[in-house]
Amino acid sequence: MKLLVTGGAGYIGSHVVRAAEAAGHSIVVVDDLSTGVTARIDSEFVHLDLSSETAQLTLENLMRKHEFDSVIHLAARKQVGQSVEQPERYYLDNIGGLANLLLAMRNSNLKSLVFSSSAATYGMPDVDSVTEDYPGVPINPYGETKLIGEWMVKNAKVWGLKGVNLRYFNVAGCAVPELNDTAPLNLIPIAIAALKAGKSPIVFGEDYPTADGSCIRDYVHVSDLAAAHVSAVDYLTQSERPFDTFNVGTGTGASVFEVLAELKIASGIDFEVSVGPRRAGDPPKLVANVSRIEKVLGFSAKHNLKDIVKSAWDAS
Ligand SMILES: NC(=O)c1ccc[n+]([C@@H]2O[C@H](COP(=O)([O-])OP(=O)(O)OC[C@H]3O[C@@H](n4cnc5c(N)ncnc54)[C@H](O)[C@@H]3O)[C@@H](O)[C@H]2O)c1
Repeated sequence: MKLLVTGGAGYIGSHVVRAAEAAGHSIVVVDDLSTGVTARIDSEFVHLDLSSETAQLTLENLMRKHEFDSVIHLAARKQVGQSVEQPERYYLDNIGGLANLLLAMRNSNLKSLVFSSSAATYGMPDVDSVTEDYPGVPINPYGETKLIGEWMVKNAKVWGLKGVNLRYFNVAGCAVPELNDTAPLNLIPIAIAALKAGKSPIVFGEDYPTADGSCIRDYVHVSDLAAAHVSAVDYLTQSERPFDTFNVGTGTGASVFEVLAELKIASGIDFEVSVGPRRAGDPPKLVANVSRIEKVLGFSAKHNLKDIVKSAWDAS
């Protein structure tokens, strides 16, 4: 198939492009390189800010030229703290960018879309593992933009769009070093950056109601997540349903202390851990229920926490 991948110069997008190419698909990447890296791009590339005034027309021309079978939309801003400081920018980029994309798809009769959503749509769920039907409420503008994005995909059924919303949990690890996550925004890259700077990784809160007191998250290897996109694109070719939403995780949680224990093994450094206060808005436990994606897409993650941490360390 011929696929348009937005955000394909990013950490996850570049892994998706490699996985889709390996599955035999042909790719065109659209990215504004705001956080993307040119060296990660190995396919045809169009430099474009999806939220710009000219984006819709440029996309329509591109869609007419290439006659894509499907779109994988990853391009977005993703920093929770920045979204609280600059909510308008997040609404413009994440929601405005998707609106331009959907308008162009509608006008070009392109009716298949995989959308990068996030577990941030759940807010602070108070359950052991969260199903897609859990009535979550996002607690920051970033999470809101992802939930609104899902609604936009759902509502486009009025003109025949078939969409899949993939709610990623904690994405980490790396397939090959040149695609590594270079922005230290999540626990594993932050802890690795601290170690490289000769500092102690910080655990934010050890008084949560969990076995060791630190927060529990569902870490999914970026290569597994990329494979889920390829499965989703295939699924869209057969599905009669207007839209579906799937959690993408492993179904297993790991605490911050457990992740750091794996990092000690991977790095061979017996580092000290500093403990700081809790951060606002961190749920104690956020783990995916993965029954739906296993059943419908036949997807299950192949990599465990050890693989994730080791691949991230080796690529750093
Ligand atoms: N990394 C995670 O843990 C995680 C978790 C849940 C969801 N997501 C989502 O996955 C997607 C990819 O995230 P990532 O971690 O690869 O981030 P990233 O910053 O590495 O990639 C985002 C890419 O989109 C591009 N981009 C951003 N705004 C754009 C715009 N207006 N027009 C064109 N290109 C634009 C950037 O240049 C970059 O290449 C995002 O939608 C993010 O919200 C990420």
